[in-house]
Amino acid sequence: MGTWALLLPLLVAAAQAQVCSVNKTFFEVKENTSPGLHLLDIYVPEGQQVTLGPSSTRFAFRIQGTQLFLNVTPDYEENSRLQAVLDCKRDDTVVTQLRVFVSVLDANDNPPRFPFVVKVQRVPEDTKVKAAVIPETELKAQDLDRNDILFYTLQEVTPGASGFFSLVGANRPELRLDRSLDFDRWPNMTFQLLVRDTREENVEPSHTATATLVLEVQPADLRPPWFLPCTYSDGFVCIHAQYHRAVPTGHTLSGPLILHPGPIYAVDGDRGINQPIVYSIIRGNEDGLFSIDANTGNLTVTKSIPSPKTFFLLVKAEQADHTRYSVTQVTVEARAAGGSPPRFPQSLYRGTVALGSGVGVAIRDAAAPSQPLRIRAQDPEFPDLNSAITYRITNNSDFRMDGEAVLTGTSPVHAGVFYAEVEANNTVTSGTATTVVEVRVSEQEPTPTGTPTSSETAGTTRDLSGTTHNSEAAGLLKAWGAPQCGNQPLPPISFTQRELSDQTLERHHVGSPPAP
Ligand SMILES: *[C@@H]1O[C@H](CO)[C@@H](O)[C@H](O)[C@H]1NC(C)=O
Ligand SMILES: *[C@@H]1O[C@H](CO)[C@@H](O)[C@H](O)[C@H]1NC(C)=O
Ligand SMILES: *[C@@H]1O[C@H](CO)[C@@H](O)[C@H](O)[C@H]1NC(C)=O
Ligand SMILES: *[C@@H]1O[C@H](CO)[C@@H](O)[C@H](O)[C@H]1NC(C)=O
Ligand SMILES: *[C@@H]1O[C@H](CO)[C@@H](O)[C@H](O)[C@H]1NC(C)=O
Repeated sequence: MGTWALLLPLLVAAAQAQVCSVNKTFFEVKENTSPGLHLLDIYVPEGQQVTLGPSSTRFAFRIQGTQLFLNVTPDYEENSRLQAVLDCKRDDTVVTQLRVFVSVLDANDNPPRFPFVVKVQRVPEDTKVKAAVIPETELKAQDLDRNDILFYTLQEVTPGASGFFSLVGANRPELRLDRSLDFDRWPNMTFQLLVRDTREENVEPSHTATATLVLEVQPADLRPPWFLPCTYSDGFVCIHAQYHRAVPTGHTLSGPLILHPGPIYAVDGDRGINQPIVYSIIRGNEDGLFSIDANTGNLTVTKSIPSPKTFFLLVKAEQADHTRYSVTQVTVEARAAGGSPPRFPQSLYRGTVALGSGVGVAIRDAAAPSQPLRIRAQDPEFPDLNSAITYRITNNSDFRMDGEAVLTGTSPVHAGVFYAEVEANNTVTSGTATTVVEVRVSEQEPTPTGTPTSSETAGTTRDLSGTTHNSEAAGLLKAWGAPQCGNQPLPPISFTQRELSDQTLERHHVGSPPAP
């Protein structure tokens, strides 16, 4: 036994001399090192040859003489562990087999990639704040470098959108809602999602990728109908308009009441849904005196109100789908018609007509010859009575009134300037007022294009008249406290021109006088 122990190293040494050997069997090589790396020298005894065994990693190695070389550019992602099997043969008999391992070290050599270029996600407007909008699994980028840690950033493309959404963490690309959505103002929000495979931006190597996120807000029924014009609105709430008007007692009024600050009009607060509105009176309709048009909201007084009284009507505007409704107050004050006479805004109206133009031809407005001249008085107290005003010419049979228009009574045969008195008669209150119309009969047809004609070369005529008209309109609007669009009064606050539909504008009366 003792003898064997002493002999063993000698025997091994003797045997070694007869077999192949290497002094290193494990290597670490960085990926992407260029091919042809010399790994080691193989000791091959006399009379033997060394070859790569069939279970070596294919194509990875090469033996030249007794030297082992790496034959490829190692790629960690493709194969991180390479094996060379060295067969040492005498003639065709394998005497020894050695294994050499190469471990490929990872390098950051792959960029991250998103599984999409543009991702469009619909988000219901009523999504709760802090809720996950897109799960992490759908937004994660892939990186072939298994050891890379990915860092994500969300960059707004739609200005202001970053207030609404954020990522849960720099390494967790779950999209979360931070603030209540508002379809009306922010229907779509676009972001750039950026991923980097390093924490810092300016290290080498570092790779990035970007993708686009589009969040389409789907309107939800969040808001009730709004009575316009809202006296305050921030897009979520509206302080509803309340409407009022004075009417004369003892008279049956034809047509819908002209209310201040405008007709009863409600819209679905959710513009994206825009349900039709149904109107009704839910309280205060004593003796069925009032009637509201369910579709238009037009309010009419069905019979004459015998004595002075103030009516407080509660008017409801309900979405046609019955989901939501609002209620506002309409105040109608019946007052004795005091008999205050109608008023002409101007003391002189200027018109023009061509010589020989015939009978029953409309006098044109000297300030705007393309339009007929209109003479209109107003009841200072009850605008609803404006329709009850009739007009006639008192002292000149060459002209006559047709409603608010002035027509020729005879064919004009003399050029010149003629005057006539126009009387307005409020047939309800019997109040009257007069004004004067000046008609210039000229040789030429008045030109609607605005090229000065003989009738207009007096110059100031046109300007004066125009100015009077405009300053009157401006004064009216000022009294309303309302911004102006053309000569359409707009609701005073909260609704920009864009937000007001054309329909709304059309429904607001032109030239209604200021509230009493
Ligand atoms: C390995 O063997 C080679 C010769 O084959 C020699 O040059 C080298 O120094 C040896 N390395 C070690 C670590 O023994
Ligand atoms: C929102 O985006 C969609 C397409 O993504 C587009 O069709 C729509 O017009 C956009 N809406 C607005 C208000 O930009
Ligand atoms: C409702 O009233 C408006 C004016 O306030 C008028 O233009 C419209 O024609 C009326 N509609 C109906 C159905 O009477
Ligand atoms: C009619 O009355 C007006 C105003 O009093 C006057 O200016 C005008 O000259 C009169 N016209 C005629 C034809 O009497
Ligand atoms: C005004 O109209 C009323 C009702 O038609 C009539 O009775 C009255 O005589 C008229 N007044 C004048 C001054 O024409």
